Amino acid sequence: MNLKDKVAIVTGGNSGIGQAIVLELARQGASVVIDYVANPAATAALEQQLAALGERAVGVQADVSQVADLQRLIAAAVQAFGRIDIMVNNAGIETRSSVLETTESQYDKVLAINLKSAFFGTQLAAQQMIKQGGGGRIINISSVHEDWPMPGNAPYCLSKGGMRMLTRTAGVELAAHGICVVGVGPGAVATPINQSTMADPALLAKLDAAIPLGRLARPEEIASVVAFLAGDGASYMTATTVFADGGIMQSSPGL
Ligand code: BGC
Repeated sequence: MNLKDKVAIVTGGNSGIGQAIVLELARQGASVVIDYVANPAATAALEQQLAALGERAVGVQADVSQVADLQRLIAAAVQAFGRIDIMVNNAGIETRSSVLETTESQYDKVLAINLKSAFFGTQLAAQQMIKQGGGGRIINISSVHEDWPMPGNAPYCLSKGGMRMLTRTAGVELAAHGICVVGVGPGAVATPINQSTMADPALLAKLDAAIPLGRLARPEEIASVVAFLAGDGASYMTATTVFADGGIMQSSPGL
């Protein structure tokens, strides 16, 4: 197993891409801490699913936009499994609001959940990795929109643009400690964040048509990239982003 004896934290781990990452890392042998804010029932179901497969996983409720909660999350992981090898900064939201319309509270919320959480998640996980020795992996779940404007989704694009530079800056700073920092940039994925598009057949058809591979990604198709980046095969990758977007970024404006 690629990730045997590794310990991973996945923020926003009880739904969407995060849930698929939890399942895939566990399947590859890692012990997993499932961070979540809402829907404890979904976390409990995931814990049970993993326990039935003989995998080690524990849910921890923590709002990663708050540094105190992140500290508690890291401490809980060390308490449960003794160390942290893989930190996946995945939690994210979007408001679908434009530059002209975005309110202060929308701005603050998106930047705090998407970027502040990843910044301090990186900082705190790296401090623990340095303390325990042996390096580690930090994987930031970004988006094609770290690089590519999406009109009408301004705070989200800002947060992912910031995450792009977090990945690069932290990757360079932490390399001396054997910690690799890599971003994953999905395009459109069939998860709750795209619920309104998926519920509108005309919009969904337009989105599918804009994607060279002709369809949204399944969350598992992003999770498999994350598992690769967490494993030995990606030992020379840092300070960069891997895109898994069905080709959408090369072909059309963000939808
Ligand atoms: C956004 C989606 C969008 C997709 C492709 C994702 O990062 O969350 O709303 O459909 O990018 O543009």
